[in-house]
Amino acid sequence: MQSLMGVTRTVKSKNELREYWAELLSYLPAKTVLLLNGEVGAGKTTSVQAIADILGMKDVQSPSFAIHLRYENDQGKSLDHIDLYRLKDDDDLESSGFWDLFSQKESLIVIEWASRLNTEYLPLNWEKFEVQIAKGATDDLRQLTARKLVS
Ligand SMILES: Nc1ncnc2c1ncn2[C@@H]1O[C@H](COP(=O)(O)OP(=O)(O)OP(=O)(O)O)[C@@H](O)[C@H]1O
Ligand SMILES: [Mg+2]
Repeated sequence: MQSLMGVTRTVKSKNELREYWAELLSYLPAKTVLLLNGEVGAGKTTSVQAIADILGMKDVQSPSFAIHLRYENDQGKSLDHIDLYRLKDDDDLESSGFWDLFSQKESLIVIEWASRLNTEYLPLNWEKFEVQIAKGATDDLRQLTARKLVS
């Protein structure tokens, strides 16, 4: 992971994007919040799909609320996918059950449009990583910058 932290990597395709996530995921601890930021079409959802695929996740539920999708794999690992794009305000987040996710013993909680969240409110006992995704000069080019947040 050290090699990816604080570093900007360029990927030339969705395949290379998947390889990037495979590398990053291999270092993430059991209780991790992954904050995904980047403009519309940057590749946040595509990244979550790659992560779910790498972890062998199956869609086990229809969304329990509009911004949350939950996945589990055969090893009992879970992936919570949150998209804050349509978030109206803090009350909206409160009533969505978002904060309850952090009472889990472990999960990978991936948040699209994490910039809408005040990350200072995230629980101290979860590791936090941010990945910023930017579009490149050509269609399939993306730049990803990962960093670990220290609380
Ligand atoms: N290297 C790449 N990495 C990620 N996406 C790519 C890449 N090359 C092409 N794409 C395409 O770019 C688009 C990314 O869309 P995606 O929905 O993942 O973006 P998003 O960041 O989730 O946007 P939104 O803010 O609307 O949720 C997809 O159509 C995907 O196929
Ligand atoms: Mg998206």
